[in-house]
Amino acid sequence: MKNKVSVLNQWAVVTGASKGLGYFYCQFLLSQGYHVLGVSRNSKNILDLVKQYPHLQVKNYDCDLSDIKNAYQLFEFAKTLNVTVVINNAGYGVWGKFQASSLDQELNMINLNIATLHILTKLFVQRFTENNFGRVINVGSMASFTPGPAFTSYYASKAYVWNLGVAINYELIRAKSKVRVITICPGPLETDFWNRSSNGKGSKEHYSSLLPVLDTQSYADKSLKKALKVKRKGFLVVGVSNKITKLIMKILPFRIVLKMVYNYQSKR
Ligand SMILES: NC(=O)c1ccc[n+]([C@@H]2O[C@H](COP(=O)([O-])OP(=O)(O)OC[C@H]3O[C@@H](n4cnc5c(N)ncnc54)[C@H](OP(=O)(O)O)[C@@H]3O)[C@@H](O)[C@H]2O)c1
Repeated sequence: MKNKVSVLNQWAVVTGASKGLGYFYCQFLLSQGYHVLGVSRNSKNILDLVKQYPHLQVKNYDCDLSDIKNAYQLFEFAKTLNVTVVINNAGYGVWGKFQASSLDQELNMINLNIATLHILTKLFVQRFTENNFGRVINVGSMASFTPGPAFTSYYASKAYVWNLGVAINYELIRAKSKVRVITICPGPLETDFWNRSSNGKGSKEHYSSLLPVLDTQSYADKSLKKALKVKRKGFLVVGVSNKITKLIMKILPFRIVLKMVYNYQSKR
């Protein structure tokens, strides 16, 4: 697979490409024969990936996507390439009780997790619709499925991502379009996410025994393989532990779920 010449001649855009889930998404896309445009504030490191796939192209596009002007500029740049897959993956959280957490940080996060994701989803769905081909893949979270006391605005932002994507995908199916918007909902992964999102609360301590932490690369491979193929379902919960968690959240009374999430997040 590694030396396969690109038969696709298609480009994938990945935001949050420099590390964590996004980096492994870039790697997987290359293994599938896509050229990759990786976006983050500093993503030069992804250029090295091309060594493993010399017949493909990798470009980096460095910008701060919490500034929505950059989302429009990224779209203009991406129009010069034959983009058929867009992964809105860049995101972080602002941990802490709502009355105490920083409004500036929350607004920055909302711009990245919601506004930029919304803009890129809209512009690429419109563009893909012209050719009746292409996929927007948005990274939500298991946090999409419940309010998150003690991590309020992050959970709310991921609920937006899920609600937006699932609804658009349904519209596309009803319109008999071949374009898809798929929302991937990861549970805990060991990435730099918590360093950025914890307000100095440390990196590893947060991994509670309540939810197992999945291997980031194998999660990336499995989730993206499904997201590139899935026909009608608008969102993906990948991994047995995440599926069980989702089921538990559905079965238990809402007030118990809120209490569990509050306890889980407050202990950090
Ligand atoms: N890790 C988890 O447990 C977990 C669980 C559920 C969902 N998720 C979601 O998965 C996605 C990826 O997170 P991750 O765990 O891979 O975190 P990560 O390791 O911290 O990676 C985040 C990526 O986003 C980029 N980024 C951050 N702020 C940016 C900005 N303002 N503009 C452009 N790029 C920016 C970062 O690169 P630069 O710093 O170079 O900009 C990095 O490439 C996020 O949407 C997150 O909410 C993560």
